[in-house]
Amino acid sequence: MKVLVVGSGGREHALVWKIAQSPLLTALHAAPGSAAMAEHATCHDVAVSDLDGLVELAKAESVDLVVVGPENPLCDGLADRLHQAGIATFGPSRLAARLETSKAFAKDFYARHNVPSARYGTFSDAAEAKAFLDQFEPPYVLKADGLAAGKGVVIVEDRADAEAEIDAFLSGKFGDASKTLVIEEFMAGEEVSVFALCDGEHVLFCGAAQDHKRVGEGDTGPNTGGMGAYSPAPVATQALIDTAMKTIIEPVANGLAAEGHPFRGVLFAGLMVTSEGPKVVEFNIRFGDPECQVLVMRIANDFLPYLNAAATGGLAEMAPIDWSPEPAITVVMATRGYPESYEKGSVIRGVAEANRMEGVHVFEAGTARNADGERIAAGGRVLNVTASGESLHYAVDRAYAAIDQIDWPDGFCRRDIAWRALKRH
Ligand code: AMP
Ligand code: GLY
Repeated sequence: MKVLVVGSGGREHALVWKIAQSPLLTALHAAPGSAAMAEHATCHDVAVSDLDGLVELAKAESVDLVVVGPENPLCDGLADRLHQAGIATFGPSRLAARLETSKAFAKDFYARHNVPSARYGTFSDAAEAKAFLDQFEPPYVLKADGLAAGKGVVIVEDRADAEAEIDAFLSGKFGDASKTLVIEEFMAGEEVSVFALCDGEHVLFCGAAQDHKRVGEGDTGPNTGGMGAYSPAPVATQALIDTAMKTIIEPVANGLAAEGHPFRGVLFAGLMVTSEGPKVVEFNIRFGDPECQVLVMRIANDFLPYLNAAATGGLAEMAPIDWSPEPAITVVMATRGYPESYEKGSVIRGVAEANRMEGVHVFEAGTARNADGERIAAGGRVLNVTASGESLHYAVDRAYAAIDQIDWPDGFCRRDIAWRALKRH
């Protein structure tokens, strides 16, 4: 099979690394890819926003399957364009992707299909929104309707702060994304991410993980795209996964199909484990980054047939994924200053040494090579130091031992990834 992976980050590096191991593979391409991915794939200088260019590339290389990493091209209709060109695609259509693009759409959709989620209201009028706050106890949860780079959720204790935020949202705090806002009930509990492949009709469990969104140790400081993740997540017991598949994932897949937008790709359910069972916080329509990095470390079988089945049908005939019993953890190394401002270009040494350690793989999220061929930082989140081991403790120790091999004075990481899970042991 000829495969094209779309994207350039750590998630896509992990997918490329895993797909490259498939005996079914005859050619692997990436767009735009990265210096790190070039070890396994032919990289093409086509941006993820260049839908025409991506379709042309897929045609020119006669690829059999396109695997799309990030949400943006999917939300813009890349899968629709590829289907029109007759090319199988792992990733949903634009209308199925509304699950991630529009919180208002998503909340109404859950309500239509009896998927457990927080009570909510959708507003574009400030007075109505403020009056709706009467229906809730603090803390108040306010969400921009549209995509706001992971920043469009505000949780405040104080009623006056909530009213001020309503005014700020509706006057464009997040641009057009917050012209409509969702106010919802606060759900107390522990969060977990559950992944499921979907071929339009059938779903197949594809792992559970927990991540750390805050930049600082002890889960403090500003939100980020994710500073680390681990799988399995102890809170995701078999009973919880079964309930989540039955009451959340299957109704979502069936609901999208029934409404004429069958979902092909991976459903990423962000769940709150509440005293009443799992409830949806949000859905994403692609793999998590960095959650994908730990999932692929744990998948013992050839993953390419699964990705292909999700894209083309036939998941019902596939065996459940064979999960390595060894837990995996990934620790994000970021450039000092992230998630605010930071400099690019600092030299990173020791990645090869870290990679040589048993059970360790360093996925590269934002690196490039300088004129001397040295590895340099080219983004905020830069390295995903990923390790597996016979216990979570062992995996954590390995990941941090690998980090200690990496010589990058301008980088930093959290030293407490997986603390919640370790505390349970
Ligand atoms: P979202 O972008 O919808 O995932 O929200 C970002 C984060 O805000 C989530 O990961 C949760 O930690 C938190 N959050 C969102 N909605 C709620 C809610 N209804 N109750 C409690 N926490 C929430
Ligand atoms: N790590 C969270 C996300 O990919 O959205």
